[in-house]
Amino acid sequence: MMKRWLMVLLLGLGMAAGAQAADVLADIHADMAGCESCHADGEPSSDGAYENETCVGCHGGMTEIEGDQHAAHDGMLVCSDCHAVHEHTAAADASGACADCHDDK
Ligand code: HEC
Ligand code: HEC
Ligand code: HEC
Ligand code: HEC
Repeated sequence: MMKRWLMVLLLGLGMAAGAQAADVLADIHADMAGCESCHADGEPSSDGAYENETCVGCHGGMTEIEGDQHAAHDGMLVCSDCHAVHEHTAAADASGACADCHDDK
């Protein structure tokens, strides 16, 4: 479930801070709301569980986000399995994001 008010607030903050086009997903988010938006106290967790919960908190779960690639993996994958947030903007950029597990996708 999209928390509209939060998205609007964050977008507003991002614009107020003069956010520029950032190259990777983590930076796009950090420009909006800092490293703390995904990391507890800004520090990465050892297993990524906390970080993946933050994604769901803002964007919703696998059955709620647009795109068949999400619903197809409900209960199987977590966000960071495909979204290499510190490496790319688009999940599809990640080399082998689909081919790692599927021969035909
Ligand atoms: C959109 C959410 C998000 C934001 C914002 C974010 N990170 Fe991360 N970060 C992650 C996730 C998810 C991982 C673990 C998986 C991965 O490396 O892709 C991670 C991993 C890391 C790691 C460990 C890297 C490794 O190779 O083990 C460091 C260090 C880190 N982040 C620092 C930062 C700093 C510093 C900022 C702010 C400039 C930041 N992160 C902002 C989501 C985020
Ligand atoms: C604090 C709320 C928040 C958190 C936490 C968060 N996001 Fe976002 N995310 C946003 C907002 C706001 C945008 C920009 C508006 C949009 O595109 O929906 C965005 C944009 C995106 C986009 C689209 C970027 C583009 O190309 O426009 C992706 C993909 C994404 N987030 C994935 C993630 C993933 C994966 C995580 C967890 C590692 C995460 N987000 C954590 C709020 C959040
Ligand atoms: C099976 C791989 C996979 C997983 C797992 C995954 N995504 Fe995605 N996601 C994609 C692909 C592929 C796209 C299309 C754009 C791109 O390449 O980044 C996308 C697009 C998005 C977008 C942009 C949607 C739009 O059309 O505006 C958001 C936001 C997003 N993902 C968030 C998430 C979140 C949050 C999670 C975890 C709950 C997640 N994704 C898990 C592969 C994945
Ligand atoms: C970490 C491994 C992994 C990744 C990465 C991954 N998948 Fe999957 N995917 C699975 C598993 C496991 C299943 C369930 C078993 C099956 O049906 O093959 C599945 C099922 C599916 C299904 C439904 C069943 C089918 O074969 O039609 C689709 C569609 C799909 N994946 C598309 C994608 C796409 C597109 C990407 C890249 C954005 C992707 N997957 C990335 C593991 C993965």
